[in-house]
Amino acid sequence: MCGIVGYIGNADGVDYVLEGLKELEYRGYDSAGIACINKDQDPFLLKEVGRITNLEKSLKKQKISSSLVIGHTRWATHGKPTKNNSHPHYNNSKTIYVVHNGIIENYLDIKKELIDKGYSFYSETDTEVIPNLIDYYYAKTKDFKKAIKLALGDLRGTYALLIASSLLKDKLYLTRLGSPLVAGFAKDYIVVASDQNVILKHTQKVTYLEDFDLAEISGNKIKIENLKTLKVYDPKIEILDFNLKEDSLNDFPDYMLKEIFDIPETIRLATKGRIDPKKGLVKLGGLDNVMSQLEHIDRIIIVACGTSYYAGMFGEYLIEEISDIPVEVVLASEFKYKKEPISRSTCVIAISQSGETADTIAALEKVKDFGVLKLGIVNVIGSTISRITDAGVYCHAGTEKAVASTKAFVSQVVILTLMSLRLKNVSNKQSKQILKEIENLPSKIEELLSKKNEIKKLSQKYSKYKDFLFIGRGYDYPTALEGALKLKEVSYIHAEGYAAGEMKHGPLAMIDQNFPTVAVIGDEVLYEKTFSNIEEIRARKGPVLLVSSTLNKKTKNMVDDVFYLPKSSNHIGSILAAVFLQLFAYYVSKDLGFNVDRPRNLAKSVTVE
Ligand code: M6R
Repeated sequence: MCGIVGYIGNADGVDYVLEGLKELEYRGYDSAGIACINKDQDPFLLKEVGRITNLEKSLKKQKISSSLVIGHTRWATHGKPTKNNSHPHYNNSKTIYVVHNGIIENYLDIKKELIDKGYSFYSETDTEVIPNLIDYYYAKTKDFKKAIKLALGDLRGTYALLIASSLLKDKLYLTRLGSPLVAGFAKDYIVVASDQNVILKHTQKVTYLEDFDLAEISGNKIKIENLKTLKVYDPKIEILDFNLKEDSLNDFPDYMLKEIFDIPETIRLATKGRIDPKKGLVKLGGLDNVMSQLEHIDRIIIVACGTSYYAGMFGEYLIEEISDIPVEVVLASEFKYKKEPISRSTCVIAISQSGETADTIAALEKVKDFGVLKLGIVNVIGSTISRITDAGVYCHAGTEKAVASTKAFVSQVVILTLMSLRLKNVSNKQSKQILKEIENLPSKIEELLSKKNEIKKLSQKYSKYKDFLFIGRGYDYPTALEGALKLKEVSYIHAEGYAAGEMKHGPLAMIDQNFPTVAVIGDEVLYEKTFSNIEEIRARKGPVLLVSSTLNKKTKNMVDDVFYLPKSSNHIGSILAAVFLQLFAYYVSKDLGFNVDRPRNLAKSVTVE
């Protein structure tokens, strides 16, 4: 979704901001723009619809340089992706420039009031009210900072904002409420962004803004005032002690394929130093400080969205089976509005690849004052969720750039497996067997990936259909749901996931020769039960593609196609099936000629509720 980058220093920051915006491209956007505040010229503004290269090309023609630059990539929420709607936005007299992530919920009321006061508007956005509101208060107070504070007081919603003005040419203001913003201190300049990856290219010295913080940067100094506590404080400098891993495509045509092929290494990294299959024990350093609290937990609520939610369902089955603690998985977007009693012996686990998903953050905010233990299973180190939870476990999946989550899902499920074993903390036959399976999982996935041509052929055979059902029981159920989500995301084909046992309670009515079913049987124990559902589908002429870890000569000819997964036990077959379904969706999308990494209408990091 939208991205923010800013530069203030002594040299030219245009290229830095442009590079930063490129770093944010993978999050999804439809237009981009920059504004430069120059010491001896009028402010410069340039916006382009489409790729950042469009902005870059137009910029080259202008030969612009500036020591105070703000930039933005926009993912349309209010108004279509047009030049006018893209950021930065400015006030009527073109003296105040703003880039904004988030949503101003009461912008229509503010807009009306400003129109009544004589202001005019050129865009359909919520953001355009902000520079005009600041302008309005500045006219009254003649104090720019005060004007910002008064304007912020009128806004309802979420924001990360950079504010630059030709009225104060050497100052950059930043503020946030519910949307991330981080400032990095390089030797001769300060760079600010909505994503720390942008900063890491410049420096490891950073400070994260907190909600209600208003920071004023002047030269290489930053002053922060929290508008809620009214405290003025020096920035708390943190050192990001990790480097960005090289994440180029290498020989892969797209990130989605590369990231699926990253999975074996992802699992090795996620389990490194954390598992001891011989002893059947797990060590998760991130949980050490809260283990005594975890011993008293009698209920777990998992909150997450999309693919992370399906990983959460996997977690529910795992934790209940392995650690005997009751688990509920709730969509983060619903959790916020659910009125339910939550006792202090509850633990809330937030699962998120990006660590920045607004709904998941809102779910954690909801339980902030309940005294419950909040844990995170997050991939992006230093992200908001990793900072607002009490403890957690990183997925170590590396940067995931394709919008469709693949390797992060697998590592989330692996981490949930380890977490379940850690919660039980008992060395027995079951724990040794599961950990042995987890240790062998990377090589089994490699075996599966070596059959990519077989999977490609199957995908090409099925890409002509307009509707799909994905079914499974037990651990295969979240896998089926995730398989359906993957297919819709990247191929725009209607796909639904169902618990196999639910077929005759409704979905069977849709089945005919044009409505194929992908049936997942990763768990041998459930083979016969799920196969009965397959027979019901076959009896209604529905084509069936079976994905199974059980070789069964009798049933082979009873389905249209079958893909055999490497042999495994426990829930491992369902993880292998999930990887098959990721590749299946990938090849269907490619066969239909879509941009698999950047599906239409979607963004990688969903930072608005
Ligand atoms: O970053 P998160 O894991 O919190 O993101 C949650 C969902 O937005 C995400 O999983 C989404 O469903 C993916 N595009 C799925 O491939």
